[in-house]
Amino acid sequence: TTAKRVIFSGIQPTGIPHLGNYLGALSSWSSLQQPGTTTFYSIVDLHAITMPQDPDILRQSKFDMAVSLLACGVDPKQSALFEQSRVAAHSELAWIFNCLTPVGWLGRMTQWKSKMDQKRGHVASHAEILADESLTTGLKMGLFDYPVLQAADILLYKATHVPVGQDQLQHLELARDTAKLFNKTFKKNVFPKPIAITPPESQRVMSLRQPTVKMSKSDPSEQSRINLSDTPEVIQSKIGRATTDSLVGVSYDKRERPGVSNLLTIYSAVRDISIEEAVKEFEGVESTKQFKEQVADAVIDRIVPIRNELSRLQGDPGYVRQVLDEGAEKAAEVAHKHMEEVYKVIGL
Ligand code: ADP
Ligand code: NA
Repeated sequence: TTAKRVIFSGIQPTGIPHLGNYLGALSSWSSLQQPGTTTFYSIVDLHAITMPQDPDILRQSKFDMAVSLLACGVDPKQSALFEQSRVAAHSELAWIFNCLTPVGWLGRMTQWKSKMDQKRGHVASHAEILADESLTTGLKMGLFDYPVLQAADILLYKATHVPVGQDQLQHLELARDTAKLFNKTFKKNVFPKPIAITPPESQRVMSLRQPTVKMSKSDPSEQSRINLSDTPEVIQSKIGRATTDSLVGVSYDKRERPGVSNLLTIYSAVRDISIEEAVKEFEGVESTKQFKEQVADAVIDRIVPIRNELSRLQGDPGYVRQVLDEGAEKAAEVAHKHMEEVYKVIGL
């Protein structure tokens, strides 16, 4: 008998996703929904509050993310789509893991360390961080503890596979270590060790303005990214003004031609073809303008149906609320069963 696949993935409620989020993460969420696979998809609002949030904006961003996930093909009949905070067991299991996880494991996390370095202005060692209280002022316990909550998110459903970006691999490793530590401590094989499903490096979408850095929500320039809510006109204009180079023709060379290569990456991803095939399609195209127009058309073909679904769902908040409520119920049922087992094993 083949082992059942259980997938958990979470995304922060950052509002309407951009093309990078879609191609690097969300498009796979929909294709992973298959018979024999159980899929749990969570809007991780408890993770969001590790940084300061405005309550009204947070509420809106959660709604926009829910709508976007549905528009990107998350199917509530096949998946449990839910808000993390509505399934209390995430917090419960995180506490239990807090009581097992050595502090040193968290101090080593590069995302935490880079937050410190931002404050300090240079790379700080863990010892320096501990010695200088002003470094951690303003940063909250929750941020330090973020990877433990993430381990709880994953292990709560006994997930076997976790779609994650490259930047989250260290956190997934911590979840695997946590599973191992728990099983060893209580001499019971409660949690499977989850396996990462990472998107190919080629799916990494770069900024349209500065193609050597990734397309990101945190980039202050709206011109740097395409949002799933952008109109065809806006998409044409953003790609039309994307940074490229003055060489003639279209070729893939990430070092020498990052802008053109990024547009080829985007084109191949939205068309579901390889980079080689994409390059072939532009053989003989000398004008950058023509190249960009064709890329924009392909992006528009892929994005417009999502955009239409997005605006349809935004007009139906009652339905979205119902999907999230039912998703939370479905998730809680599994979570509750697993927590009973955890409590029993621990002696609580
Ligand atoms: P952002 O940088 O815009 O804040 P997040 O860090 O919230 O994006 O990432 C959400 C998901 O989208 C993650 O799975 C991440 O790996 C993926 N992702 C983010 N930016 C990109 C990108 N430029 N290209 C490919 N995938 C991306
Ligand atoms: Na980010």
